[in-house]
Amino acid sequence: MSKIEWDDSLSVGVAAIDDQHKNWIECFNSAAEAVEAKHETAQVIKTLAFLVDYTEDHFSTEEKYMTENDYPGLAEHKEKHDELKKTLADLVRDFQEEGATRPLADGMDTFLGNWLANHIHEVDMKFSSFVREKGITIPAATP
Ligand code: FEO
Repeated sequence: MSKIEWDDSLSVGVAAIDDQHKNWIECFNSAAEAVEAKHETAQVIKTLAFLVDYTEDHFSTEEKYMTENDYPGLAEHKEKHDELKKTLADLVRDFQEEGATRPLADGMDTFLGNWLANHIHEVDMKFSSFVREKGITIPAATP
């Protein structure tokens, strides 16, 4: 399992979003590590649930920024968010049905991990370019 490490290449240049992405990566790494190490079921469920909650909160927050600022790419971006939420829900269901199997660990590692980094690099970066071009200020927010 290769963890995702935050570095400047993942920065979208908007501090409020970068801060959320750092937390999101931390949640992802904790969940992936718990699955990989086959931690106790309760521990894996806790980390996966935290990842699901944080992902939903982050996506909602990002979509709120897009709506408030009339971002023309909102529908396309939201579609990507919905795809990831479904993938994550499928992984959680797989865990609940089959436990911390090798395919689940691989799914976390390759598919979800790659998706997350690619999404930040390609999709979120488009929104942050829009934010910078328009001179929009995104306030610091939680999550
Ligand atoms: Fe940062 Fe579009 O998720």
